[in-house]
Amino acid sequence: MDETSDEQAAVRIAGAVREWDLGATCLAALAVVTDGAAGGDLAATARAVMAAAGLGDVLADPPRMPFSAEQVHGMAASPLLQATALVSGSHADWSAHSDETLIAQGRASASAATLFTTFVLPHFAGFADRLARPGARMLDVGTGVGALAIGYAQAFPQLHVTGLDVMPRVLRLAQAQIEASPVAERVEVRQADVAELADEAAYDLAWIPAPFIPQPAFSNGVARIAAALRPGGMLMIGHGIYEGTELENAIARFKTVGYGGTPLDGESAARLLAAHGLTAIRRIQLPPGAPGLTVGLR
Ligand SMILES: C[S@@+](CC[C@H](N)C(=O)[O-])C[C@H]1O[C@@H](n2cnc3c(N)ncnc32)[C@H](O)[C@@H]1O
Repeated sequence: MDETSDEQAAVRIAGAVREWDLGATCLAALAVVTDGAAGGDLAATARAVMAAAGLGDVLADPPRMPFSAEQVHGMAASPLLQATALVSGSHADWSAHSDETLIAQGRASASAATLFTTFVLPHFAGFADRLARPGARMLDVGTGVGALAIGYAQAFPQLHVTGLDVMPRVLRLAQAQIEASPVAERVEVRQADVAELADEAAYDLAWIPAPFIPQPAFSNGVARIAAALRPGGMLMIGHGIYEGTELENAIARFKTVGYGGTPLDGESAARLLAAHGLTAIRRIQLPPGAPGLTVGLR
């Protein structure tokens, strides 16, 4: 490489790092603004960053957004903490993540119930009524700290949610979060591998996130969940989105490998649901940043 190309390479690397640092720092500012404990100059300067980034109005006091401040804090902190785990080499196994990372990831997924009511239910007439009936049950696979499970129980006052996870430490965190929630009597967690789920015709709604569940547990798990649904019950598969730019697709694969999960696209998710006898299969369009979602009915 001659001197000019060295100079060009330096400018390109430094320019790329600066651009990506702006994005990472915006996430950090969003996490600070939505952290109830942050104050003083730090919170004031973080608010200025958010105003300059165009989010001043939605983060105003009181905020004008469909998510709680705690959920947005998780949405902002979770990618930063997980990226830190990728950098430090402690990533492939969820048990290597700190409690803080697990709780932030949980808070990010707590908004799932809001996305479900806004983007999924309108496509399935009568399904909201089904979830509103006494005895309605949901299965949350890979429940983590139980935030998604708690979010659904709060959104549907009759719904009983069972969370499965393989990791004892995360289930202890989940138990504490559930006990501190107003829906403790309707959320339970079990230490179990989804591949060994033995329930039959027990649930109206089930969720499994492919990017977080390794093979072969994911494929075996989908088969077990299909059998565990009540007739007419809904299985939601969270999956990657590989329909973006080359960079977005490469990042999606990098993150899935980092999580030790299953790289699956929407078409493969739809084929899997069909192979297990589900019908009314539909790809749901969610807002940018949310995972891919494909659903079907038993
Ligand atoms: C990102 S976390 C899910 C976050 C969760 N939605 C919350 O609200 O906290 C993914 C979880 O999947 C769990 N997991 C991985 N493989 C599993 C399996 N075979 N069966 C059940 N859970 C599994 C991991 O232990 C991890 O806690």
